[in-house]
Amino acid sequence: MDLSTRYMGLELANPVVASASPLNADLDNIRRLEDAGVAAIVLPSLFEEEIRAEALRYERLTGAVTESFAEALTYFPEHGITHGGTTRYLDLAQRAVEAVDAPIIGSLNDTTPEGWITYAREIEEAGAHGLELNVYFLPTDLSLSGRAVEQRYPDVLAAVRETVTIPIAVKLSPYLSAPGHVAMELARGGADALVLFNRLYQPDIDIVRLQLRNDLELSRHEEIRLPLLWIAVLAGRVRASLAASTGVESWEEIVKYLMAGADVVMTTSALLRHGVGFVGDLLAGLRAWLSARGIHSVDRIRGLLSRQRLGLTEAFERASYLEILSWPRGGERS
Ligand SMILES: Cc1cc2nc3c(=O)[nH]c(=O)nc-3n(C[C@H](O)[C@H](O)[C@H](O)COP(=O)(O)O)c2cc1C
Repeated sequence: MDLSTRYMGLELANPVVASASPLNADLDNIRRLEDAGVAAIVLPSLFEEEIRAEALRYERLTGAVTESFAEALTYFPEHGITHGGTTRYLDLAQRAVEAVDAPIIGSLNDTTPEGWITYAREIEEAGAHGLELNVYFLPTDLSLSGRAVEQRYPDVLAAVRETVTIPIAVKLSPYLSAPGHVAMELARGGADALVLFNRLYQPDIDIVRLQLRNDLELSRHEEIRLPLLWIAVLAGRVRASLAASTGVESWEEIVKYLMAGADVVMTTSALLRHGVGFVGDLLAGLRAWLSARGIHSVDRIRGLLSRQRLGLTEAFERASYLEILSWPRGGERS
C-alpha cells in the first residue's frame, strides 16, 4: 500500500500530520507520534506575546518594565496554549529535528513585521524543515475593512518569503470573504502550502456566574464540511499543497478530505481526545478502507471529488443549492 505524499515540497510517508498544539511541545509526544506513524509534526505556534513575556520577565529582573505592557500581558494565559518563550521554543525545534525522522514544521504567530521576520529566520536556523504562518487575529477593530484583513496574508507571506528558504505554509481563517482569491494570491506569492482552516477563538457565556467562558471545545466531525468545501474548490486550481485541518474524528474524515483533494490531513482534537497513539488507528482505518476497495495508493483517490475533477459549474452549484432548500417541500427523503 503506497500512502506516500508530497506536501509543501516535503516527501512524506503518508498524509497524516499532527497539527499545531501543546501536545507537540513535548519531546516524548513527538517521539510517540513518530512511532505511531505520523508523517510530519507541526510545533505549536511561537506567539509574539510569549516572546514579549520572556522580555518582560527579563525587564522585571532589571527593573525596566512599564506597567501598561505588564497589564497587556495579563490577558494572555500563562498556561494552556502558551508554549514557553523563544529560547525554549527554538530549543524544542532543534531537539525535535534531532529526535525524529519525520519533518518538523515550526509555527509562528506574530503581530509586527519585525517579529515575523526575526523569528521565522530563527526557526529556520533551528533546523525546522518547514514553517507554518498562523496569521490568526480577530479583526475587532471596526475600522478594518475586509480587504485590509485579507491583505495581511500576502503581506506577511512576502516578508517571510524574503527571509527564509524553507517551505512555507499559510494557515487561513475560515471567515474570509474570498478564501479562494486569498489562496490564489498566496500561491502566487510563494506559499508552498495552505492550511484550511484555523479554528478561531469563540467564547461562550456562563449564565450562572454571569461571565465569559474561555474554554475550548474540541472539534467534531460535523465541522469538516466548510474546509471540505474549500479544499474541493481549490484542488487542482492553485499551485500550493493543501492541508485539511478541522474535524478529524476518525479515518473516515481523512478519506473524505483526500477525495476532496487534500494533500495532507491534519489532526489535533482527536489526539487530545484519544492520545497521540491514535495516529496509528487513523492510518490503519485508511489502509483498511483502501485495501477493501483494491486501491493501492492514496494518489488514486486524491481529488477524485474535487470541483475541478467533477467539472462542476456555478450554474450546477446554484441548482444544487436550490434543490437543498426545497427539501421541506419535497417531503421526507429516503
Ligand atoms: C489546545 C489547542 C492548541 C492549539 N494551538 C495552536 C497553535 O499554537 N497554533 C496553531 O496554528 N493552531 C493551534 N491550534 C489549532 C489546531 O492546530 C487545529 O488547526 C484546530 O484545532 C483544528 O483541528 P482539529 O479539528 O483537528 O482540532 C490549537 C488547537 C487546540 C485544540
